[in-house]
Amino acid sequence: MKFFIDTAEIDEIRDLAATGLVDGVTTNPSLIAKSGRNFLDVVAEICDVVDGPVSAECVALDHETMLKEGRKLAEIADNIAVKVPLTPDGLKTCRVLAEGGTMVNVTLCFSAAQALLAAKAGATFISPFVGRLDDIGQDGLSLIAEICEIYANYDFPTEVLVASVRGPLHVAAAARMGAGVATLPPNVLRAMFKHPLTDKGLAAFLDDWAKTGQTIL
Ligand code: G3P
Repeated sequence: MKFFIDTAEIDEIRDLAATGLVDGVTTNPSLIAKSGRNFLDVVAEICDVVDGPVSAECVALDHETMLKEGRKLAEIADNIAVKVPLTPDGLKTCRVLAEGGTMVNVTLCFSAAQALLAAKAGATFISPFVGRLDDIGQDGLSLIAEICEIYANYDFPTEVLVASVRGPLHVAAAARMGAGVATLPPNVLRAMFKHPLTDKGLAAFLDDWAKTGQTIL
């Protein structure tokens, strides 16, 4: 499973990229606004920090303008994945950009039917929002299972990019289903390291080691 980081905070990206566990980055208009940075500048900086796909989202709603925006975003760096919404115009733009060789991340996916459309439109990634479904009392992970099953039936090249991730359990469950990518808020990736028994066991190992009076170096 590839791990993308779901943030536009460059310091967080640098810090987590240093773990060697980061395969890409996703942003969206809300994350860009939260960063307080110029959109094109911060995306360009992110592309310099992370070699993998960096998602940058169009904000137009009509195909003609979305295509112009997407082409402008794709010029930022070779590792840009243009993000478009799961709408008729978004998928028209997806097809044109994908046929031109640009990576496309189709976002705001909330149903298997939508994911089927995105794959037919040539999406590189489909972003089903697990957490937001959970937030309204639906089972976001069941959508991941449905999409993985459908995509496997037709050998679609589109990768399932699990988004709106709320914690490590979402990541582990999606990995069991075979999702190719999860995009993780920084706090979720950090939380994945943690278990109280790891901390307890490490402390006990070091206490016992200290009693030997030995050093390795
Ligand atoms: O960036 C796309 C998605 O991961 C955002 O989800 O629910 O955290 O805003 P959310």
